Amino acid sequence: MNYIGSKSSLLQFLEESINKVVDTDCTTFCDLFAGTGIVGRYFKQKGYKIIANDIQYYSYVLNRHYIGNHKELNFAKLSKKIPELNNVKINKRKNFVCDYLSDLKGVKGFIYENYCLGGTKDRKEPRQYFSDENGMRCDAIRQKIENWKRQKLILDDEYYFLITSLVESIDKYANTASVYGAFLKKLKKTAQKNLVLEPASLIINSQSHKVFNEDINELTQKVKGDILYLDPPYNHRQYATNYHLLETIAKYDNPKIHGKTGLRDYNDQKSLYCSRSKVKTAFKDLILKARAKYIFLSYNNEGLMTLEDIKEIMRLRGQYGYFTKKYHRFKADKTKNRNYKANKTVEYLHYVKLSKNRNLV
Ligand SMILES: C[S@@+](CC[C@H](N)C(=O)[O-])C[C@H]1O[C@@H](n2cnc3c(N)ncnc32)[C@H](O)[C@@H]1O
Repeated sequence: MNYIGSKSSLLQFLEESINKVVDTDCTTFCDLFAGTGIVGRYFKQKGYKIIANDIQYYSYVLNRHYIGNHKELNFAKLSKKIPELNNVKINKRKNFVCDYLSDLKGVKGFIYENYCLGGTKDRKEPRQYFSDENGMRCDAIRQKIENWKRQKLILDDEYYFLITSLVESIDKYANTASVYGAFLKKLKKTAQKNLVLEPASLIINSQSHKVFNEDINELTQKVKGDILYLDPPYNHRQYATNYHLLETIAKYDNPKIHGKTGLRDYNDQKSLYCSRSKVKTAFKDLILKARAKYIFLSYNNEGLMTLEDIKEIMRLRGQYGYFTKKYHRFKADKTKNRNYKANKTVEYLHYVKLSKNRNLV
């Protein structure tokens, strides 16, 4: 997924830098601003036990699958409803179920009625986030997954796999420039194609992992690990507004929505890390409460906190240092309205080795 602040192209830099700092007996990696889960996934594959968290529910869903699921999914109960499943090899059943859902006839549900032209054309503020066909396909798939869960035909692991597959797939057909803060007037090419549900990849290993959906400052005292990796928002752009539609598809909770973009209420998900006046206090609180041997922080040179702020706060816990890498900025930032000087920013990986006297592990 094309996600603001995604670390997908910085994974090697993160790993190489982290390995220069940590000792070899570290086994637990905490990714507590997890977003797409790409960092946790990478370190899960390297053999770490992962603890993941994010305040957004769609992110919880992605991490609950990519991180939390670590055994093959066999859809054993669903075969009562779809007997053909019994003839499918276990490792192909994920594809079979996704194909089955892709073939469903579309229905006019919450997404069609509120985010497609067909459902909104007679309103004061028509919306076109998806083609009519894809809105209806999305509704049909999402409703079927929920019905299967309600009827206990799928296990939680299977449920989160299916919703992850839907969130990741529908995002590829969205009629947006990249995020959900606005939609395009005309249906772009990729939005005209019909939604196909692609099965999300599954990383199988023998470890069990933990996944949370909480405000990090609330969670941090409840978890401990060797390596705490922090990747907060860098600026004022709230994830709750930029990805509101993914939140609604993941929750499918018929929320009250308002305005041109059909925004849901996000009071509980407003991040302090997006507020210039509040971020330092929140970050200091987090660093002081953290329970780990090492803390790493991704941030860039244009973020709301200055490098001095970060250094001053992280040094409170022990020996501080940092690594840097030049980085191409996120695509959606390339608008005329934004007043950035360069296409490249400097990405920092700050770290602190926690001193024994303040180390709470
Ligand atoms: C820079 S993104 C993380 C990107 C992620 N590392 C990736 O590569 O996909 C920051 C994430 O922090 C989450 N977030 C913001 N404030 C939070 C908070 N107070 N507690 C937990 N998560 C928060 C956002 O929802 C967003 O997913």
